[in-house]
Amino acid sequence: MAEPARLDGSRVLVTGGAGFIGANFVHHFLRRFPDAHVVVLDSLTYAGRRENLDGIPTRSLTFMHGDIRDPAAVALAMEGCDHVLNFAAESHVDRSIEAPGDFIQTDVYGVFVLCEEARRRGLRRFLQVSTDEVYGEVLEGHATEAWPLMPRSPYAASKAGGDRLAFAYWATYGLPVVVTRCTNNYGPRQYPEKLVPLFVTNAIEGQPLPVYGTGLNRRDWIHVEDHCSALVTLLTQPGIEGETFNVGAGNELDVLTITGTILKLLGKPGSLVRHVEDRPGHDRRYALDSSRLTRLTGWKPAVAFEDGIRQTVEWYRANEAWWRPIKEGEFRAYYERMYGTRKVLKEVRA
Ligand code: NAD
Ligand code: TYD
Repeated sequence: MAEPARLDGSRVLVTGGAGFIGANFVHHFLRRFPDAHVVVLDSLTYAGRRENLDGIPTRSLTFMHGDIRDPAAVALAMEGCDHVLNFAAESHVDRSIEAPGDFIQTDVYGVFVLCEEARRRGLRRFLQVSTDEVYGEVLEGHATEAWPLMPRSPYAASKAGGDRLAFAYWATYGLPVVVTRCTNNYGPRQYPEKLVPLFVTNAIEGQPLPVYGTGLNRRDWIHVEDHCSALVTLLTQPGIEGETFNVGAGNELDVLTITGTILKLLGKPGSLVRHVEDRPGHDRRYALDSSRLTRLTGWKPAVAFEDGIRQTVEWYRANEAWWRPIKEGEFRAYYERMYGTRKVLKEVRA
């Protein structure tokens, strides 16, 4: 398939480009459009890793260490750009339960600062990377883009704020906004606080895998490369300004199934599993209907879950030099706060 011509030679601002999805996007995008230039604006919070961008040719990348809440940094970063993708966010539900303030600051106010700068410029597209968590838990069926927004964690609520704020800049000022709501990503370079990298790295270390409550909570799991290919599609699809698109892969799996798969791939025993006190307000199920995106653009996920999870486990196995220093730093104190005093459940009922 020919690449969309509009992206050749483009200058694209990727905020949060040193994080998990942002960095995978930069690699994916520059592989497909080697003549493009990417500007990354990232404040390098605990989740932002400069080394996530290792291997990108210097001629293709301008890295700016700065905050999306800072209008001067944002103005400088957006200079000369024709497309903006906003990945920058506080993104972990458990941290949002512990301390919601930074989430409101970055995920809502940060979007405001970006939109304010963007509306002064002639951008081709402003892509706000939102999440399926804005729908809240979907106990039956699959959420379409018209589903009510019922976010239930401070993270999800702050993302819903940013999602609708970006939309409002389209409705009010004509900013060429497109909003995406993707489901749970997995893949390389994911900070090991999230389920997949935490359980893979704990299992490699022979540490317990802390399953919240019953472990029957369900998510739709998408490989990060499939998310990235959907984002490229939506950067260039004409006539969709002001619209919102779900991005899912149809891999609905519960936590226990993911846990079992990881243990099997690593050849580790089931005795590592610990059912622990549940997350407060733990959403039982996320499920998306992303048929609108496929109907309109032909986009489809390409990575089967069995292949994607095997490659992901392999990546963490081969890249201990990436995650071991992380787990020894700030992460230790976080882990102790989050799991140190958490009750281990003797009896688990669905
Ligand atoms: P992440 O936490 O791994 O990375 C976030 C990045 O943003 C980091 O590099 C961090 O340094 C940077 N950042 C945070 N605050 C900033 C600020 N104020 N200014 C500049 N940079 C800042 O997150 P991720 O998993 O890569 O998620 C990226 C985006 O995708 C987020 O907006 C998230 O809500 C969304 N999303 C994630 C998933 C998922 O499964 N991980 C699913 C759907 C949507
Ligand atoms: P997570 O990766 O935090 O993503 P989200 O909550 O944003 O979907 O969690 C995915 C699922 O895994 C969710 O149901 C919570 C569960 N989980 C555990 O059981 N134990 C853990 O230590 C973590 C981090 C998550």
